[in-house]
Amino acid sequence: MGEWWRDAVFYAIYVRSFDDSDGDGVGDLPGIRRRLPYLRELGVDAVWLTPFYPSPGADHGYDVADYVDVDPLFGTLSDFDDLIVEAHALGLRVIVDIVPNHTSSAHPWFAGDRSRYVTVPAGNGLPNNWPSTWGGPAWTLDEERGEYYLHLFAPEQPDLDWHEVQVRADFDEILRFWLDRGVDGFRIDVAHGLVKNAALANEPEPIPAARFSSDWRTAIDQPEVHDIYRDWRELADSYEGDRVLVGEVTFSDQKRIAPYLRPDELQLAFNFSLMFQPWEAEAMRTSIDESLVALPIVTWVVESHDVTRIVTRFGPRAARAASLLLLALPGPVFLYQGQELGLEEVDLPDELRQDPIFFRTRGERKGRDGCRIPLPWTRDLPERSWLPLPAGWSDLSVEAQLEDAASTLALYRAALRQRPGGEFRWVESPDGTLVFARGGTLCAVNLAADDLPLPDGELLIASDAIVDRLPRETAAWVRLRG
Ligand code: BGC
Ligand code: MG
Repeated sequence: MGEWWRDAVFYAIYVRSFDDSDGDGVGDLPGIRRRLPYLRELGVDAVWLTPFYPSPGADHGYDVADYVDVDPLFGTLSDFDDLIVEAHALGLRVIVDIVPNHTSSAHPWFAGDRSRYVTVPAGNGLPNNWPSTWGGPAWTLDEERGEYYLHLFAPEQPDLDWHEVQVRADFDEILRFWLDRGVDGFRIDVAHGLVKNAALANEPEPIPAARFSSDWRTAIDQPEVHDIYRDWRELADSYEGDRVLVGEVTFSDQKRIAPYLRPDELQLAFNFSLMFQPWEAEAMRTSIDESLVALPIVTWVVESHDVTRIVTRFGPRAARAASLLLLALPGPVFLYQGQELGLEEVDLPDELRQDPIFFRTRGERKGRDGCRIPLPWTRDLPERSWLPLPAGWSDLSVEAQLEDAASTLALYRAALRQRPGGEFRWVESPDGTLVFARGGTLCAVNLAADDLPLPDGELLIASDAIVDRLPRETAAWVRLRG
């Protein structure tokens, strides 16, 4: 099928926290494999696996020590192969995460001559004013070697130098390795960041660390990065089966994403703008409009392994309504594991925290562990898990929700079976509400109005038990008559 990704629903699997098949407290590939029927029943089209490569785990896998193998913690290459075969047999596609901006400091390349990395001889202090996304300067002095090396993230994640042809050749091989094993594409980590300003020129304004590189002016988003994606696209297109490249291109100005989506570059790039909107009609409407105007195709997402869950951001009722909003928008959607269970952000005690953000900011930013708690599959919660599950999650478990027709899981399953298609068009509606049409179906969302009369037609689905009016924090899809 051509361009299957155009309106696909992807499901993000944070491998460590999805399903632990061997009871060591950490999710693994066989765990994912045995849950493929669950994902198929849920109704998603594809899964994205976060990094499962050998890694010391300084950033839970986003510090890769070997790009062409599986960390024994998660399984083996043959587990991976089985997973792909079984997913495909069930009609599910699989994309994997590729982390080309940086390696782990434990990668053999970094132990070698470091010609693949961005380094500067020590001498006159810090090479420039670039900050690490997680606090402190983006440079670490290696005293033994007498040089600074660059890391936009943690010091254990040295940045590769994409001006080096060897790096490009290496990654061509890496992409081929996984394409040959049957992956349906890649999610590209920090896709706008690979190529650094060749002169290592200062940023004109200080970058707020918490902004996750979205407002860099000088350091990244260099014209040469597009050559890489033109090459990668050619490579992906040389394989049969419409392999997809999805970029993590993070800018607060959506217009800066558009060049990455030119016809010979990436097919998709995340649109994070909805992630940063409050539960307010005007803010959401503006974000949706700006995205639709700025980009040829918008990849919608409200949750990920990097941000606070929507139940906590919006409240549980609003989060259910938000799911109907999200799934009615035109284009591909990414769901994050547990979103379909209505899991909330967990406030962990500091001594259990694991995210490097917590440590690098000396606790000032709590980090992302709260959205990375392992999924509750059964009412009996696991005894061992790398982050503890709250006792209350027994009732939120897949087992419990499958027995409850009013559960969030039931809502997602029903919505995914009848996502509307067709042309997108706003319909006038009172303040505090959002109403739009997709072809002959209306999506009505009441964010903050007292109530919203339901349009005339067949009620397809509602985020809560409703009759003919939508109270605050509810949403519905209605098929128009005629
Ligand atoms: C990933 C994060 C990771 C960072 C550094 C992000 O885009 O989603 O989880 O920490 O890249 O690799
Ligand atoms: Mg395990």
